[in-house]
Amino acid sequence: MTDTLSVTDNRTGKSYEIGIENGTIRAIDLRQIKVTGGDFGLMSFDPAYLNTASCESRVTLVDGENGVLRYRGIPIEQLAEHSTFLEVAYLLIHGDLPGASQLAAWTYSVTTHTFIHENVKKFMDEFRYDAHPMGMLSATVAALSTFYPSARLIHDPAERVKHLHRLLAKMPTIAAFAYRHSLGLPFVYPDNDLSYAGNFLNMLFKFSEVKYEPNPVLERAVDLLFILHADHGQNCSTTSVRTVGSSQVDPYSAVAAGVAALYGPLHGGANEAVLHMLKRIGSVKNIPAFLARVRTGEERLMGFGHRVYKNYDPRARIIKKVADEVFEVTGRNPLLDIALEVERIALEDEYFVKRRLYPNVDFYSGLIYQAMEIPTDMFSALFAIPRTAGWLAQWLEMITDPKQRIARPRQVYLGKSERPFVAIEDR
Ligand code: CMC
Repeated sequence: MTDTLSVTDNRTGKSYEIGIENGTIRAIDLRQIKVTGGDFGLMSFDPAYLNTASCESRVTLVDGENGVLRYRGIPIEQLAEHSTFLEVAYLLIHGDLPGASQLAAWTYSVTTHTFIHENVKKFMDEFRYDAHPMGMLSATVAALSTFYPSARLIHDPAERVKHLHRLLAKMPTIAAFAYRHSLGLPFVYPDNDLSYAGNFLNMLFKFSEVKYEPNPVLERAVDLLFILHADHGQNCSTTSVRTVGSSQVDPYSAVAAGVAALYGPLHGGANEAVLHMLKRIGSVKNIPAFLARVRTGEERLMGFGHRVYKNYDPRARIIKKVADEVFEVTGRNPLLDIALEVERIALEDEYFVKRRLYPNVDFYSGLIYQAMEIPTDMFSALFAIPRTAGWLAQWLEMITDPKQRIARPRQVYLGKSERPFVAIEDR
């Protein structure tokens, strides 16, 4: 078998052989297909990248047909059961699980970079009292680039490492400060004796106690949710990080773009939208009427559907189990009954079955966060913290990939052809 594609251009009758590699053809190979010599050549048209691979990656496999997710080859179920978020972050960024001394050094470095410059704190203090945490997060992460100008030296591996550690370490601090700001509460400085997740809970919830002791079940639940959200291939925010990073800007600016992309309700904002939706449904008896509106397109069932998963999202399955453990500590979230019934009906409903719409990672995560008394505005920030590990792993891969150049898609111009400027008095 020859790995080529034979294409005949019916406009000219000419045939072309196009190479196939890793199940793809190179879009640039289409350029040779021309009607006349002066012709630009054929392009592929793919708004929203429905069938276009923008990079080669060795970080995360998302097999949407079979509901499989693996970080660097390791199934998400095994990582969820045996690993911690910081170990997973190391795996994503370095490519392999760390040895004991590597993990200790990595944990020490990330843990000791959690503090932010006092001027960053002052900067955050100036946001309006009701500023959305994601707006604060993206602006503050972008502002970090001004505190660390050497981050521009992206071709220096030692510099890169320094800023990777800083970004991972400071994201929880900035997210927690955004939350405290929205409540008018004093910022809580990091406690570096605590775990990554435990310290985050400390910065969110500490009041007057001398030492904050995180509940171990909730601490583990947050860590687990962080593992599940750490990376997901070329999603909207990761593509944003890669696109912005391809201009060779510093990683803070690239990650700020990722946070902005994640803010949207079709991406990281979905878990927040799920909660609003469940509240609007209000009661199990209202579900059929709500789903009828979804079928007619008046509503969208948030937390359902995925561009890649056409099967149950494996992360949703793990989250459902964690929810039970969390609710034992916090008490059952009353919205859970509505969510379970929505899922039960939707999985049997022709509209959803036909379109292969299943619960995604966001369908249950919001219920857990709400039971932990984390406000809905903060949900996407809890997504952004662990996704930073994935963004950085992908950014690093892109920066060191000789095939990558500045991202610059083509367009199909359908605007007006040339016409003269008309003076204002003649219009
Ligand atoms: N509720 C109702 N109908 C839906 C939904 C939904 N949640 N999702 C897709 N559909 C329908 C859609 O109307 C379309 O129907 P038709 O063929 O009749 O026009 C069909 O399913 C295909 O949908 P699409 O919008 O073309 O699919 P997409 O790949 O462009 O969008 C999505 C993927 C995740 C944006 C979409 O499923 C959605 O809006 N879901 C709700 C928001 C959500 O939960 N987002 C979180 C995604 S997981 C976390 C993350 O990665 O950020």
